[in-house]
Amino acid sequence: MSSDSREVILGVGAGIAAYKSADLLRRLQDRGYRVSVVPTPSSLNFVGAATWEALSGRPAHTQVWENVHEVTHISLAQKSGFFIIAPATADLIARIAIGRADDLLTNLILASDVPKMIVPAMHPNMWNDPATKANVATLRSRGFTVLEPDTGRLTGNDSGQGRFPEVSRIVTEFDAMTGNKQDLLGRRVLITAGGTREAIDPVRFIGNRSSGKQGVALARAAQLRGADVTLIAANMDTSTVDGVSITHVESARDMQVELAKEFKTCDVLIMCAAVADARPVTTLSEKIKKAFFTSIELEANPDLLAELARQKSHQIMIGFAAETTEHIDSARSKLTAKSLDIIYVNDVSGGAIFGKDVTHGTILLRNGEEIALKEVSKDALADLLLDYAIRQLG
Ligand code: CTP
Repeated sequence: MSSDSREVILGVGAGIAAYKSADLLRRLQDRGYRVSVVPTPSSLNFVGAATWEALSGRPAHTQVWENVHEVTHISLAQKSGFFIIAPATADLIARIAIGRADDLLTNLILASDVPKMIVPAMHPNMWNDPATKANVATLRSRGFTVLEPDTGRLTGNDSGQGRFPEVSRIVTEFDAMTGNKQDLLGRRVLITAGGTREAIDPVRFIGNRSSGKQGVALARAAQLRGADVTLIAANMDTSTVDGVSITHVESARDMQVELAKEFKTCDVLIMCAAVADARPVTTLSEKIKKAFFTSIELEANPDLLAELARQKSHQIMIGFAAETTEHIDSARSKLTAKSLDIIYVNDVSGGAIFGKDVTHGTILLRNGEEIALKEVSKDALADLLLDYAIRQLG
C-alpha cells in the first residue's frame, strides 16, 4: 500500500491543549487533508474519543488491541502521508525519542517513515528541563519537525515558553512540511467534465468516450489549493468530490444553461468536457423501431467555450482538445479561434487516454510556449495546468 499525501494522522497527547486540537483538526480538514485521530489513552481524560470520532468521521483508536484483525498500526501507518502530534507532552516526546511502542500512536510513529511534526505544549519548566531538551534535539536530528511552543500565560498563573502555538501558525508550518499550496484561496474555478449526450429517442443518444477522470482530477487539485470549485459533470460515474459543488447535466444545451449561471463569477474556466458538436434535429418521445432507424438528421450545437470567451472579462480560459492527427497545429488553431489562454491537447490516436489514469500530450500557451508531457498522471497534469492558470491570474 502506498501512502497518500492527503491522509494525515493527528496524534493527541495528554495535555490540556488537547481541546485546541479539535480546532486544528477542522482547519486541517478545511485545507483538504483527510485526518485520522489517534489519541493517547491518557489524553482521553481531556477530550474523549467521541469528540474525535464525530469531528473526523472516523474511529479514534488508542490501543493496538482494538481491531486486531486489521493490524491497524501497520495499515494506518502505511496509508498516511504525514503525522502531526499535537499537543505533544514531555512524556510523549520522551517515549517517541526512546522508541517506545506502548500505545497505538507510538506504534504508528515507529512503523512509519513519513514526515512528522511535533507540536509541544507543557509547563515552561518541563520544556526547559535538560531531559526534554535532549529528547527534542534527538527527534530533530532524526528528521522530526518540532515546533517551538509559544511564550505566554499557562493554564495556571505561570507564564513562559510552553504554550500550544496558535492554530494558524501550526497549519502554516504543516503546509510548509507537506508542500500543500493554497495559491487559489479566494478564487472561483469552474470546470466541465465528462461527455455530453444528445438524445435521439428515450433509449438512444449520440455520445463520446470521455470518462470525466481528468475533470475530477482538476476539481480535486483546485479544491486542495484553496479554490471554490464548481464542477459541471456530464454523464460521469463520479457523483461527489469532497468539497466540490457538482451539477449533473446530460446534453450540451444543459451544460450551456449551467455555464451561463456560473461563468460571470468564476476566475478560471476549464472546459474539460467533450461537448458533442451536433445533436439530432428532433428527439422522438417514442423509441424508434429498427425498421425506421436508418438515418439521423443533425444540427450543430453551440460552441460553448467560444461563446463564453466572447463574454469574458477577467477569466482565464482553458480548453482541451482530443486529436488523432496534427495535434499541435490543430490545437494551436483552436487556442486562437476560441481566444483561450491555455489549451491541452491529448493525443488520442488508437483510443489511448480515455478512462485511463495517465495522459500524454502537450500544453500550449498563448505566448507560444509548448510543454510536452509523456505518460503523466491526470493528477499531475491538473496541478500543472493550475500552475499556468495562476501564473496568468497574476
Ligand atoms: N467545446 C465547446 N463546445 C463545443 C465543442 C467543444 O465548448 N460545442 C470545447 C471543449 O470542451 C474543448 C474545446 O472546445 O475544451 C475544444 O474541443 P474540440 O472538440 O477538440 O474542438 P472543436 O472546436 O469541436 O473542433 P473539432 O471537433 O473540429 O476538432
